[in-house]
Amino acid sequence: MLDQACSRYEWCPRLRKEVKSILGDDPVHGYPHVVRVAELALKISGTLCGVDEEILLAAALVHDVGRPFESERGKHHAVISADEAPALLRRAGFPDEKVPRVVEAVLAHSFSLGVRAESMEARVLSDADKLDAMGAVGVARAFIEGDRRGRGFEGTVKHFEEKLLRLRELMHTEPGRRMAEDRHRFMKMFLEKFLEEAGLKHVYSLDKAT
Ligand SMILES: [Fe+2]
Ligand SMILES: [Fe+2]
Repeated sequence: MLDQACSRYEWCPRLRKEVKSILGDDPVHGYPHVVRVAELALKISGTLCGVDEEILLAAALVHDVGRPFESERGKHHAVISADEAPALLRRAGFPDEKVPRVVEAVLAHSFSLGVRAESMEARVLSDADKLDAMGAVGVARAFIEGDRRGRGFEGTVKHFEEKLLRLRELMHTEPGRRMAEDRHRFMKMFLEKFLEEAGLKHVYSLDKAT
């Protein structure tokens, strides 16, 4: 879906190449995450009216470009991505008049920054980004990230409790909600078995999860 959509815009292959070189191949937060988010965003928007595909595609591609600079610049990565986006887009040949709407969607993609997703493109991007933290990919990402942060099994289970099992409630669109429902169910199924096998049932009771 992404390759097909990208082939409709001259700027797209150039932007993909630059984003890939900035983010690298880390499956958790790198270019593979961006590709999954762009695919999900296109899938969600396929059944929705009022989404500008060109803006959505560009926003999905640049939404996390600020992540590698987060600690060095001491700002939220969504803010850095929004700062960097106009120059990146311009270099790729993206239409100038659409840049502000890409920036708006990028700023609103992260729940923790607290910027409301107002436009359709911002809502779809936010849903797509959250979906990639859920389901089987969400489980894989959580354990890789848990290991990097030294969370251990218990800390990773806490992360499910505090964040991942709550993402379903944050969906903005109907197709996003449906996909989130499916991914949420899988995460609960996985956790139930995991807690039992790892002897961690005392750490978290799935009855608390909706
Ligand atoms: Fe992000
Ligand atoms: Fe992201």
